[in-house]
Amino acid sequence: MKALVFHGAGKKSWEEKPKPVIQQPTDAVVRITKTTICGTDLHIMKGDVPEVVDGRILGHEGVGVIEELGNSVTNFKKGDRVIISCITSCGKCDYCKKGMYSHCENGGWILGHLIDGTQAEYVRIPHADNSLYHIPDGTDEEALVMLSDILPTGFECGVLNGKVQPGNTVAIVGSGPIGLASLLTAQFYAPAEIIMIDPDDNRLETAKKFGATQVINNSKENAVEKVKQLTNGKGVDTAIEAVGIPATFELCQLLIAPGGTIANIGVHGKSAELHLETLWAHNITITTRLVDTVTTPMLLKTIQSKKLDSKKLITHHVKLSDIINAYETFGNAAREKALKVILTNE
Ligand SMILES: NC(=O)c1ccc[n+]([C@@H]2O[C@H](COP(=O)([O-])OP(=O)(O)OC[C@H]3O[C@@H](n4cnc5c(N)ncnc54)[C@H](O)[C@@H]3O)[C@@H](O)[C@H]2O)c1
Ligand SMILES: [Zn+2]
Ligand SMILES: [Zn+2]
Repeated sequence: MKALVFHGAGKKSWEEKPKPVIQQPTDAVVRITKTTICGTDLHIMKGDVPEVVDGRILGHEGVGVIEELGNSVTNFKKGDRVIISCITSCGKCDYCKKGMYSHCENGGWILGHLIDGTQAEYVRIPHADNSLYHIPDGTDEEALVMLSDILPTGFECGVLNGKVQPGNTVAIVGSGPIGLASLLTAQFYAPAEIIMIDPDDNRLETAKKFGATQVINNSKENAVEKVKQLTNGKGVDTAIEAVGIPATFELCQLLIAPGGTIANIGVHGKSAELHLETLWAHNITITTRLVDTVTTPMLLKTIQSKKLDSKKLITHHVKLSDIINAYETFGNAAREKALKVILTNE
């Protein structure tokens, strides 16, 4: 089969790899029908995630069809259409029992990280019963690719951890697919203000269409001054970091009101400063989280009932075999006006 293979920072190729086989009775092999590229894949390509070794197939999002099943998988049969969760979980260990699938002792975020991932014609999914979801008849597969990672991530790590409340003020730093997923799902809770901050005017335009009440281009304007103006000098109740660089985590510390919550989503490759000399007395909370994907079934229902239109996060369609070009498009998102790029395995 063909797959997108990582060969060290800055190096990748679309090349021949052995088709995956069942290794454990709890495995499934899924034929990928649609997959996509995440901001985390860009971090991996930058060398920010050193556990990813030379030869690894990247990708942790996608939908597909069950091709092979291990003997002990009971929830699925061959030919079933499935959503692949970016988090693999056994459902049995202490962390899984707490709903903290991301720290599953036998899984977690391993796809396209510690084991081969979904940017390929086929992928092996361990613990298939707990790590795959059925695609309901009549639902749009492309809309469901957004459930593998970005919607649960924006919701769990941003909105839930950030304690978004009715009437509150929220700032989201980073208007990429993840920041926009937080923007969409924050609106379940009717906050009064959602301020999106990004240097990319196109992504800010999209944010306005998706329900942002204010947008700030922080390459042209002083985001701290503008947020203070918009919040009577107080700052915001929730600041969501959806970029993954020190500057944006530090910006969140300057935006947060007393009593507020900073919810970090970004994958960080470098240490960031924590300004305890000002924050120690501000009664704030800082949260971090790897997405658990425990809200995937709930989010699926909101898509099915059309409360959430996840398809509008998709801007580009490319053949899976053109994935190298798709990385160029997603990696130059401002120039290409790109959000999520759907890769179809034809
Ligand atoms: N915690 C988790 O479980 C988890 C899961 C998935 C993704 N992530 C991380 O979430 C982050 C966002 O992912 P994405 O797919 O949206 O990435 P992306 O690269 O598409 O988007 C990042 C956005 O940040 C903006 N940006 C860059 N510098 C900025 C600055 N100084 N100020 C404000 N905005 C700035 C960019 O213009 C871009 O729109 C990444 O770090 C990704 O690795 C975390
Ligand atoms: Zn991801
Ligand atoms: Zn587990």
